[in-house]
Amino acid sequence: EAFFRPIASAGPPSPTKRHTKISVIGAGNVGMAIAQTILTQDLADELVLVDAKADKLRGEMLDLQHAAAFLPRTKIHASVDYAVTVGSDLCIVTAGARQIPGESRLNLLQRNVALFRNIIPPLAKYSPETILLIVSNPVDVLTYVSWKLSRFPSNRVIGSGTNLDSSRFRFLIADHLDVNAQDVQAYMIGEHGDSSVALWSSISVGGVPVLSFLEKQQIRYEKETLENIHKQVVNSAYEVISLKGYTSWAIGYSAANLARSLLRNQRKIHPVSVLAKGLYGIDGGEVFLSLPAQLGRGGVLGVTNVPLTDEEAQKLRDSAKTILEVQSQLGI
Ligand code: NAI
Ligand code: 2OP
Repeated sequence: EAFFRPIASAGPPSPTKRHTKISVIGAGNVGMAIAQTILTQDLADELVLVDAKADKLRGEMLDLQHAAAFLPRTKIHASVDYAVTVGSDLCIVTAGARQIPGESRLNLLQRNVALFRNIIPPLAKYSPETILLIVSNPVDVLTYVSWKLSRFPSNRVIGSGTNLDSSRFRFLIADHLDVNAQDVQAYMIGEHGDSSVALWSSISVGGVPVLSFLEKQQIRYEKETLENIHKQVVNSAYEVISLKGYTSWAIGYSAANLARSLLRNQRKIHPVSVLAKGLYGIDGGEVFLSLPAQLGRGGVLGVTNVPLTDEEAQKLRDSAKTILEVQSQLGI
């Protein structure tokens, strides 16, 4: 006999909300930080983990399932077989090699492209309507590779990009001014990595534009402080990797933050890696890099038309050039 008995004249249960399925590919430090943030923030009805190492994968799945009594209800599956991802609304790819201390992200390219050739086609096959959110490094080039391998429209292929760098930037500005980082509007754009661009002209705190405020008060323009903050952002991952071996918590929150905007149709603006060809004078090829983009259920809904200073626009084009040079070695 069934545990619950149906009540009289009840039809099929009416869903109160759309069923949401998220697949996370790669159950390493980053994949698991993302998975656990998704669970605690109640972002999915079904969470799927895929990895190449079957034992590690099953261990991670069981460990998360054992927290069921403390979490919102989410069905968790795991498999080395991509069939488990069928019908995903969002696939977050974190599989692959990571940097050793001192190594640059771009150096991981050849190893991770080889893996992506076996990861992206099955994801696209089992979930032809999904949004792909790429996290593995070098994220901008791998987002381009995923776009090519999936043959998806570009609005459904997104790199986590400088959403993380911008959070680091906001943290450091907030720390410097002793305010709440959530009140700091500030963007890093371009490559997620060494050639990222800080948009000083767009920083505001509680709606007050910071640079023009400082200038009006005739407070000396602290160019050196600002440049130091940018250097610290660029150095952040190198520092954390040299201390703990990898980065995980901040990217876990960053990716969950993007998942919420996408799947809950928040229409929020995030600096993420998108196809940037033709924008801000970026020519010379199809390149993905971060620009402030509006995200919703359809993926990238549009890119904000931020006014850049000549210097910022030039740095953005230089960043595009750096990515394109690396990309040209690929033959994809
Ligand atoms: P990790 O070594 O802990 O995990 C990588 C996982 O990928 C391993 O569990 C491995 O078994 C799995 N894997 C390898 N080949 C696979 C395949 N063909 N199919 C399925 N799974 C496979 O590395 P970690 O620390 O999780 O980093 C993962 C990636 O994320 C790296 O490329 C790292 O640079 C990148 N990353 C990107 C960030 C961003 O902001 N975009 C932030 C932090 C890391
Ligand atoms: C990060 O910025 C390593 O890309 C990684 O944390």
